[in-house]
Amino acid sequence: MESELALPKGQLMSGKRGLVTGVANRNSIAWGIASQIVAQGGEAALAYLDSNEKRVRPLGESIGVSLYVPMDVTNDASMDAAFAAMADKWGTIDYLVHSIAFADRDQISGSFVENCTREGLATAIDVSVYSFVDCARRAAAMMRPGGSLITMTYLGSERAIPNYNTMGVAKAALEAATRYIARDLGPAGVRVNAISAGAMRTLSLAGISGGRSMLAQGRRLSAMREDTSMEGVAGCALWLLSDLGRSTTGEVIHVDAGFHMMGLPAEDETPS
Ligand SMILES: NC(=O)c1ccc[n+]([C@@H]2O[C@H](COP(=O)([O-])OP(=O)(O)OC[C@H]3O[C@@H](n4cnc5c(N)ncnc54)[C@H](O)[C@@H]3O)[C@@H](O)[C@H]2O)c1
Repeated sequence: MESELALPKGQLMSGKRGLVTGVANRNSIAWGIASQIVAQGGEAALAYLDSNEKRVRPLGESIGVSLYVPMDVTNDASMDAAFAAMADKWGTIDYLVHSIAFADRDQISGSFVENCTREGLATAIDVSVYSFVDCARRAAAMMRPGGSLITMTYLGSERAIPNYNTMGVAKAALEAATRYIARDLGPAGVRVNAISAGAMRTLSLAGISGGRSMLAQGRRLSAMREDTSMEGVAGCALWLLSDLGRSTTGEVIHVDAGFHMMGLPAEDETPS
């Protein structure tokens, strides 16, 4: 299958092999990134939750992916098996894409202060933050200088966005983790960055109360007055994962059509 994204083909990822986590279906950000890595000459292993296998395999097969690793980030045995499978097949890897988040539904709706629970916050941090630390530690052990890791975040880490709540707290922790991991892995020549994407129509967004409104308001209040494109997010990922991203580490890069930097909307744009 040809890549569905309107990005030029090339060889930016030629000779690079790595793991893309977080493909659930063809709308997943991870799928947009994986298909572009392959379109740029790279090899990608796909990690997926068992329940997504029937959707992930056909997608991967359509672009010639040869390595599939079931992976539940909350289960150490599953993490061990996933990284062992990659080590067996490839020995070393060059990159890792972390595109995983989860919070219970009551944690991403209504009042944060009322709804946030000890257990809800712990689950969100475990799946959405600790998983990146764990992936980074395991991936770094298989990387040479020039390796690159990326994770996905959202502006709800920096600003209080309606309903994003517990996930916003988790994303703030994820961005801090990105800097600490970057600091630790820097001397080994491994770079670590986060992409802060604008709202995009995926399963994760559908799980957030008012996700549709996040999408519409993101479009209306962004500098460019448009949705965040998969092309833009995948393009940024290619820059960070390839040698073009040399010297960039510990960054959180916004790819959101300029939503994050807007102040007040002009008077004629203010909702009545
Ligand atoms: N969609 C958006 O608007 C948006 C914006 C900014 C950032 N993000 C972030 O992008 C990332 C990918 O989300 P998406 O929007 O592509 O949605 P998605 O639902 O397609 O991807 C989320 C992935 O997390 C995986 N996952 C959840 N729990 C897991 C576990 N225990 N073990 C392994 N995998 C697990 C799911 O299987 C799924 O593949 C997330 O970190 C999300 O917060 C999304």
